[in-house]
Amino acid sequence: MEVVICKTREEASKLAANMITAAVKKNPKLVLGLATGSTPVLMYTEMANAVKAKKVSYRQVKSWNLDEYVGLAGTHDQSYRYFMNENLFKKIDIKLANTHVLNGLAEDVDKECRAYEAQIKKAGGIDIQVLGIGSDGHIAFNEPGTSLKSRTSCVYLTPSTIRDNARLFFKGKEKDVPTRALSMGVGTICEAKKCILLAFGKGKADAIKGCVEGPMSQFCTASALQAHNDCWIFCDEAAASKLKLKKYYAWRSATKLGI
Ligand code: GLP
Repeated sequence: MEVVICKTREEASKLAANMITAAVKKNPKLVLGLATGSTPVLMYTEMANAVKAKKVSYRQVKSWNLDEYVGLAGTHDQSYRYFMNENLFKKIDIKLANTHVLNGLAEDVDKECRAYEAQIKKAGGIDIQVLGIGSDGHIAFNEPGTSLKSRTSCVYLTPSTIRDNARLFFKGKEKDVPTRALSMGVGTICEAKKCILLAFGKGKADAIKGCVEGPMSQFCTASALQAHNDCWIFCDEAAASKLKLKKYYAWRSATKLGI
């Protein structure tokens, strides 16, 4: 696990976007796993800037998103499909037909989840998985108590996640946040060839501590990434503030990145 600690979230977002841009340039048919939430927005803007500057093209890239709320249509302005269209897909040259988000309105959710996993497998697996982290240490919507080998399934959100997600989305109305979601599993995520996790602000400091230095435990599902052999954590100083070895991680990752 490499922990890149930047002074600002802008700097961290730029470095993470550069890593993705370089990978797409190298392999124009890259398979991306994408995440929602407020955290990756700046990185998505940087990725779009690279497309605008004609540094890279996403015409042959395929993407699969981590999760979607149960009960929301993709046209709902709080759905993750809508979020992705607005914050990334409309701003880059990816073909919308090559982008995949779980269907929150699927009648048979198990069938939907099984089909999603089969699609990813058929595409050759995810090359780079983008991740945010919940304040309770979740990745995608894999809440505390979820098996670290879990597969894509219908999951139940904790009251704290509902509260967190209402703060920035759903116009602050907790009662409007769905209580269930379809989510890639921890096991599914860990099969990606590379993972890039972003975390900003002091509200993520405990989660990052658990993810990087905590015991590997289903109580902090991001800690499963400790067993991944190509996982990069891009964070600001506030999110890294509780790490015991932060100076060492910062030096090591900066040396590897040549920055
Ligand atoms: C939701 C998403 C996660 C995301 C988290 C953090 O729970 N399912 O994928 O990482 O929110 O969101 P934010 O980046 O807004 O803090």
